[in-house]
Amino acid sequence: MIQTSLYERVGGKDAVEAVVNVFYEKVLTDDRIKHFFDDVDMDKQRGKQKIFIAYALGGPVNYTGKDMREAHAHLVERGLNDSHFDAVAENLQGTLEELEVSVENVREIMQIVGGTREDVLGR
Ligand code: HEM
Repeated sequence: MIQTSLYERVGGKDAVEAVVNVFYEKVLTDDRIKHFFDDVDMDKQRGKQKIFIAYALGGPVNYTGKDMREAHAHLVERGLNDSHFDAVAENLQGTLEELEVSVENVREIMQIVGGTREDVLGR
């Protein structure tokens, strides 16, 4: 049997678009983390969210641990820590649940995202 990627299983590009819209709103209105996005322009922010979701879903992006480290190094300097990582993860899980992604797919996505913690936090 050919195993389809999680990205395809949740609906590909259209599903990512829907997830991005809801997740974006949550992250940018969350007082625990929204300040990290202050200096990022809106277009870039949306682009980032799209890449983020595609990455979490194992879609067509080319991000490595090294890139994750580099992308967040300036945020670590500004105090990015586990509590912020947890807040982002919580917003993502809430988004997926709201959009009725299956329990198994949510679990799989959260595992992938969780696996980036050490890189994102520069440890
Ligand atoms: C949970 C795992 C995370 C993943 C998979 C992830 C993914 C990414 C990716 C792929 C980029 C680069 C986009 C680009 O190439 O421009 C990025 C940038 C960024 N991330 Fe994350 N991220 C994570 C956690 C976080 C957390 C916890 C925060 C802050 C609360 C955060 C805030 C940002 C910001 C502000 C940028 C943009 C940096 C800039 O352009 O100046 N990320 N992230």
